[in-house]
Amino acid sequence: MNNAIYGDLVAWYDLLDPCADHADEVGAFRKALLGALGTGPEPGQATRPTLLELGAGAGNNAFHLKSVFQCTLSDLSEPMLGLSRAQNPSCEHVAGDMRTLRLGRTFDAVVVHDAIAYMQTEADLRAAVDTAFLHTRPGGAAIFAPDCTRETFEEQSQLHEGNDGDRSLRCLEWMWDPDPGDTTYTVEYAFLLRRGTEMKAVHDRHVEGLFPKATWEQILRDAGFTVETIRRPLGDAEHIDAFADEVFLARRPEP
Ligand SMILES: C[S@@+](CC[C@H](N)C(=O)[O-])C[C@H]1O[C@@H](n2cnc3c(N)ncnc32)[C@H](O)[C@@H]1O
Repeated sequence: MNNAIYGDLVAWYDLLDPCADHADEVGAFRKALLGALGTGPEPGQATRPTLLELGAGAGNNAFHLKSVFQCTLSDLSEPMLGLSRAQNPSCEHVAGDMRTLRLGRTFDAVVVHDAIAYMQTEADLRAAVDTAFLHTRPGGAAIFAPDCTRETFEEQSQLHEGNDGDRSLRCLEWMWDPDPGDTTYTVEYAFLLRRGTEMKAVHDRHVEGLFPKATWEQILRDAGFTVETIRRPLGDAEHIDAFADEVFLARRPEP
């Protein structure tokens, strides 16, 4: 993986993906995981359940989870881990590839959010799901939250805008699918980055994995999970029925 967003452009990441935008979605993950674990949401309680996030990026999910869960955050990109360390200094951070990470311990909960998109083949997806399973304790639960499945994918574009002091970002994100017969789609990011009066343009292409819901469910079951889906709010939580999709809640059964 060699994406500018997670490397050279990391200093702009906060303007592209503000932490506050994760609150509603992560609230749904938190509720589902605590429900699966049978634990009450008690911020600041002495022994919080443990949680591992694979591909935690800037730690924007963790920011909304860490009062309830004791979080361990892993990512492939050192610059992204740096953003998360600054935002979540109380959390453990570990560098690693979600396909091969082996920490030798289990967690009450595992989260794999939009980073799962970087699994471009079924073999990669299986490897990441196996990593999640091995790190989920028996009786624990995992959330897998891809941006879309083959069924929900639509070509679309959106404009991201962010401003902070003399820094301004405008970014056109354009999702399209060059070959509907394979397991990937493409996301083009066209950035205009302004610092004071200086303007820079950058194009960053991401190739991401796209799998039918049935493939997802089969891979999760093959790993050893039981599978259900939960509703995730998209945007405004007050309108969850209008703007929501489904993500996977996977439980590791007790022996
Ligand atoms: C969109 S960002 C995740 C942002 C995150 N959801 C948050 O709350 O800030 C996607 C992340 O996936 C990471 N990533 C991509 N491939 C990976 C892999 N094979 N293993 C671990 N992390 C990976 C990237 O480095 C990047 O930080």
